[in-house]
Amino acid sequence: PAPGPLQGKKVLVSAGPTYEDLDPVRFLGNRSSGKMGFAIAAAAAGMGAEVTLVAGPVHLATPAGVQRVDVRSAAQMHQAVFAALPADIYIGAAAVADYTPRQPAVNKIKKSSESLALDLMRTPDILAEVAAQTQALQLVVGFAAETENVAGYARGKLEAKRLDMIVANRVGIADGGFESDSNAMTAYWKDGERAFASAPKTELARQLMQLIVERLQA
Ligand code: PMT
Repeated sequence: PAPGPLQGKKVLVSAGPTYEDLDPVRFLGNRSSGKMGFAIAAAAAGMGAEVTLVAGPVHLATPAGVQRVDVRSAAQMHQAVFAALPADIYIGAAAVADYTPRQPAVNKIKKSSESLALDLMRTPDILAEVAAQTQALQLVVGFAAETENVAGYARGKLEAKRLDMIVANRVGIADGGFESDSNAMTAYWKDGERAFASAPKTELARQLMQLIVERLQA
């Protein structure tokens, strides 16, 4: 690892979407490209951390010095994250599916009736489970992707999931959020917040990692 303020720290980052299979040819996914999480992994490695990056299906090169584990579904991401623990810092930037088909079809679902209902069940909340670990991490950071009431929902998730920090971004807008190379976001913790103005995700990741170093020392 490079010399830096995170030398000796183990940082675990999740990135990208998950794909939940409906049948052998179809899945439920989302628009996450993985760019935000990959930039965070690169920034943490640049600050001297030992970084493991659990990545959903994305088309991105592995950042230098980062150990990458590829997964597809929420269940696989859950397993890979827990296999990579213990860590000092967890940063959940992945857009994990909240629901998955209860029983993926063995064969391709055939077109027949006029409508089709899917039977979905909740996936485990990886972030909340990591935050509830008995072997406590020093800092657990979640993301909140919201289309409205960004601050309110973010603070709600900070408390409900017992996180040390949540980073909220607005999604469903033309520039920023999913897929885009740039983003704007606000980090919230118990007694503070910091807004990050719109910038390339690589730059935002460096600023966020600097804040995380400050909060570790606080
Ligand atoms: O990948 P990009 O294209 O660069 O886009 C970046 C991003 C918009 C995906 C990213 O900045 C972001 O906001 N990631 C979180 C997306 C999301 O799923 O948010 P959420 O509000 O639904 O989830 C809240 C938190 O819980 C997240 O940290 C998520 O990783 C976590 N979670 C959610 C569900 C679940 N089953 N397990 C989880 O760990």
